[in-house]
Amino acid sequence: MEYQVVIPAAGQGKRMKAGKNKLLLELNSCPVIIHTLRVFDHDPYCKGIYLAIHPGDREAFQRLIKRFNIQKVVKLVEGGEERQHSVYNALLEVSHEIVLVHDGARPFIKSTTIHHLVEEAKSSGAAIAAVPVKDTIKKVIDGAVEQTIERSSLWMVQTPQAFRVSLLRRAHSEAAEGGFLGTDDASLVERMNFGVSVVESDYDNIKLTTPEDLYFAEAIVKKQEEMSGG
Ligand code: CTP
Ligand code: MG
Repeated sequence: MEYQVVIPAAGQGKRMKAGKNKLLLELNSCPVIIHTLRVFDHDPYCKGIYLAIHPGDREAFQRLIKRFNIQKVVKLVEGGEERQHSVYNALLEVSHEIVLVHDGARPFIKSTTIHHLVEEAKSSGAAIAAVPVKDTIKKVIDGAVEQTIERSSLWMVQTPQAFRVSLLRRAHSEAAEGGFLGTDDASLVERMNFGVSVVESDYDNIKLTTPEDLYFAEAIVKKQEEMSGG
């Protein structure tokens, strides 16, 4: 059940329009990145966190890790131009057989989902968290509907994504060689024709992307506090 986790946190959060890395914004007096790190810090099966950061954020992250007493960050790795490069740089450092990749911008990941993913990756090699799509999705070209895609087979893909580390390293180096840039890690494995398992996650595991996501995040934090009796 043990694993290590790569957390890409080296973005600039342009769509959040906060004028700084969105992971440094606070939710309930605690920066987003700390919410995310705590889930793994408190998980006994997590044996190390590799955090990919932008060089300009290094001091800010170091200070927060100290202030909030996060124990398991093994290394702050320099991120790259795109998320894929940030993950690859951190992946080179991982020393465990099973690796999870989890966006710093998804602070509400549950440990039960993490554990399902680790188990699945151990048996099959690759597993991703996802939820069924609720809306009807249409393919639109130049303002006109091209196609309505059958909803029952559509899933919204999240992180964590869990892999045997040897497989994900190979997928990343083949993608780099082929000049392929994916928006998630599983897509790099898929292009090797390797099967990827899906683990059903939940709708709280949102990615903070645009300003309105902060309202949803506040509501989720409040719900979690009520549930934990805080
Ligand atoms: N990320 C990264 N390195 C990059 C770009 C993104 O490590 N070069 C990280 C982000 O910090 C985030 C995760 O990948 O935790 C998902 O990316 P996204 O939500 O797109 O965040 P940003 O790239 O920061 O936001 P934007 O695209 O709006 O600028
Ligand atoms: Mg981005």
